Amino acid sequence: MKKLTIAIDGYASTGKSSIAKKIAIKYGYIYINSGSMYRAVTLFAIENKILGLLNDNIDLFIEKLNRISINFRFSENNLISNVFLNNRNVEKDIGSLEVSNYVSKVAAIPEIRKEMVKLQRNVDRGKGVVMDGRDIGSVVFPDADIKLFLTASDAVRASRRFEEMINNGSSVSYDDILNNIRNRDKIDSSRSDSPLIIEKDAVVIDNSNMSIDEQINQINILINYKLAN
Ligand code: CDP
Repeated sequence: MKKLTIAIDGYASTGKSSIAKKIAIKYGYIYINSGSMYRAVTLFAIENKILGLLNDNIDLFIEKLNRISINFRFSENNLISNVFLNNRNVEKDIGSLEVSNYVSKVAAIPEIRKEMVKLQRNVDRGKGVVMDGRDIGSVVFPDADIKLFLTASDAVRASRRFEEMINNGSSVSYDDILNNIRNRDKIDSSRSDSPLIIEKDAVVIDNSNMSIDEQINQINILINYKLAN
């Protein structure tokens, strides 16, 4: 059976990872959340108190990252690859608003992107891959079999993320999340290296008023078509 590479890009908090995870489980593909890698680098920077260097010494910031090791290990608990930072599972820690508030600035640094893209391309595409992020269809796998671009209104995205974080026990405000989402979209779309763009051959899904199952149904149609042709 043919195994596909499926790239899912889109704006912040559009449900990319929920969709990607479901598809990967359904087809037995590898799922990689590329955003978790940029988040892991950012967590390292926060924990090692080097974020200040982002403003005045990017070269030193990058140098300090040479002690970083990032990899994925499949977890039977949540059935997805979890991200490990220096051998520690940081899947939960990277979801904080503090990480979200700095990640786009870190992800705009070309030297960091180069290393992350290298790691992302190491995945065994022969097994079938679903990868979500911002530059998967444009830079990481421009030859992906299916390219999806997810979008939704700011308000819907902020409410979904707010609910998710409250359910996870974080004390966050809706307004802070909305601001974070808007701010990240702006930085991610305007950076010079690998900005968030809609590829010509991407299928755009506005999921403001769609359930996850409705989206999965649409995507299944695309996958079945690709598998048959
Ligand atoms: O899930 P959410 O939409 O909150 O974001 P994410 O996928 O965890 O990505 C967090 C941040 O990492 C994004 O806002 C981007 O700044 C950066 N990112 C990127 O630059 N390139 C990627 N392929 C994935 C994420």
